[in-house]
Amino acid sequence: MKEYLPQELSVPEVQRLLQGGVGPRPIALVSTISKDGINNLSPFSFFNVFGANPPVIAFSPSRRGRDGSLKDTYFNLIETKECVVQAVTFEMVEQVSLASTEYERGIDEFIKSGLTPIDSDLVKPKRVKESPFQMECKLLDMMSYGDGGAAANIAICEVIKFHVSEDIFENGLIHPNKIDLVARMSGDFYCRAIGENIFEVEKPVKKKGVGFDQLPEFIRNSNVYSANNLGKFANIETIPLENAVNGLIEEVTAKDLKDIELSSDAFRFYKEKNNYLYMLKYILINRDISNEDRKKLLEQTAKCALESNDNEFAWKTALYAGRFQ
Ligand SMILES: Cc1cc2nc3c(=O)[nH]c(=O)nc-3n(C[C@H](O)[C@H](O)[C@H](O)COP(=O)(O)O)c2cc1C
Repeated sequence: MKEYLPQELSVPEVQRLLQGGVGPRPIALVSTISKDGINNLSPFSFFNVFGANPPVIAFSPSRRGRDGSLKDTYFNLIETKECVVQAVTFEMVEQVSLASTEYERGIDEFIKSGLTPIDSDLVKPKRVKESPFQMECKLLDMMSYGDGGAAANIAICEVIKFHVSEDIFENGLIHPNKIDLVARMSGDFYCRAIGENIFEVEKPVKKKGVGFDQLPEFIRNSNVYSANNLGKFANIETIPLENAVNGLIEEVTAKDLKDIELSSDAFRFYKEKNNYLYMLKYILINRDISNEDRKKLLEQTAKCALESNDNEFAWKTALYAGRFQ
């Protein structure tokens, strides 16, 4: 590992490390208004949510890296104590990037970016029509750390009204594929949280998984399972007993699976299709497999079942594999 002490690096080097390792960062598109009534719009990726009761979010209109000067968003927040924070979607990302241009104080970035201002209900700053998720906010605190270039000014805000497009909900939940958010990473990199980039991990809230330390050695040391597979194995509440393993083996042995093939290509074909039942049946009825290969094929079967969220089947198959060491 490379090691760094921040005090031995330049500020841009520290900034680059942080932006590379802390991400993807959500982007707050923040609208403020000066005391003279001039609109301002800028994106901030040093941003997140910190509580829901009351709803509290924070972002950092930091001092400029170049000269330590303060940004318009900071001045406006100090002057008026209000803002609107909106989510940034893929469709608007180029316009949002344009809004980050350092126009002189007094220039309205709604006009420069072409994004559409609409009235808010409870605060003076405008909302951005193009964003499907808008939060009207009051400033609670501005916490400043340092006065050099890139020093943090953390604007802590309470959300006092949400405006959310009906189009982004599915079964009562804001669905990633519908909101199509983008996030900031290092340098000029962004990422888009949609499609195959989205996956689910079952919450271990209600149950208490047995934990990594309880995994049998032959599972932990297998070179078929990935670290994520082991994490998922460890999330089971109770490890199946040996007679439950026997039960599955007997059940699958007795099962009449139509058109099951025993050719050498068949296992690979079932694996490609994630058909872990056929994979197990193939192993059980194929006599010409060495113990070493049998163990490997069983582990591949358990992995397929696990990745198809059939954790019981996966565990039983993995335990059965352990009998062929
Ligand atoms: C996606 C994106 C994220 C950004 N995040 C931040 C940030 O977290 N903090 C910051 O001070 N500047 C950030 N910037 C740069 C500001 O948007 C930029 O300095 C802007 O000109 C500030 O505008 P203002 O002076 O009108 O407040 C970001 C820029 C982009 C494009």
